[in-house]
Amino acid sequence: MNSTPRSGNGEPSQVQLAKHLGASVVTTVSAGNAEFVRELGADEVIDYRTDDFVARLAGNPVDLVLDTQGGDTTTKSLRVLRPGGTVIGIAGTPDPHLADQAGAGKLVKLALAALSLPLRRRARKLGVSYRFLFIHPAGQALRTIAGLVDQGVLRPVVDRVLPFDETREALKQVLAGGTRGKVVVTTRPDR
Ligand SMILES: NC(=O)c1ccc[n+]([C@@H]2O[C@H](COP(=O)([O-])OP(=O)(O)OC[C@H]3O[C@@H](n4cnc5c(N)ncnc54)[C@H](OP(=O)(O)O)[C@@H]3O)[C@@H](O)[C@H]2O)c1
Repeated sequence: MNSTPRSGNGEPSQVQLAKHLGASVVTTVSAGNAEFVRELGADEVIDYRTDDFVARLAGNPVDLVLDTQGGDTTTKSLRVLRPGGTVIGIAGTPDPHLADQAGAGKLVKLALAALSLPLRRRARKLGVSYRFLFIHPAGQALRTIAGLVDQGVLRPVVDRVLPFDETREALKQVLAGGTRGKVVVTTRPDR
């Protein structure tokens, strides 16, 4: 990363981690969350409901987009990158690397290659790249993150805490969107 990589949206931990790594962060949120992400460290905030982020970033391309939306947002994100930049998506089109990560066979890899071909082709034409990231818990990474929380570098943002028997409700809330930070399910609601 150089001095101006940008985070793609207002997911609280992404904004804080990107700032910690020295990035200049541009982020998309709805108006009600603008002040919140500024407090977390975002340098520039774009309301995706009223503003076109491609137009806003024209002439000021970024190094990295973290895309949690997929679809049209991914395609548009390719156009805000400087040459050599990367869009990392977690909700859109999986690419063949996912097959390697998941230990899947050649057939799955071929299928993912075909599925992501239009997007990868578009990226190549623009001189940028697209990667799908499948997040999986890794002990060392989690220890590093826990350390950053202990040092006060990262502030965990918890929207609400629900008891284990309300897991279905918790999932519903996450899927409905609009939560600010994490929805936590606990087996110890008394704590
Ligand atoms: N690949 C993996 O391993 C993995 C792991 C975890 C999650 N996921 C997937 O990743 C997705 C992320 O969901 P999330 O709950 O973190 O995010 P989200 O609720 O969809 O939104 C994240 C941020 O993006 C903003 N946003 C919403 N719609 C937007 C749009 N059209 N254009 C630009 N910005 C927009 C939101 O602003 P507002 O809140 O102000 O609207 C919020 O700041 C889910 O689909 C989930 O299934 C994938």
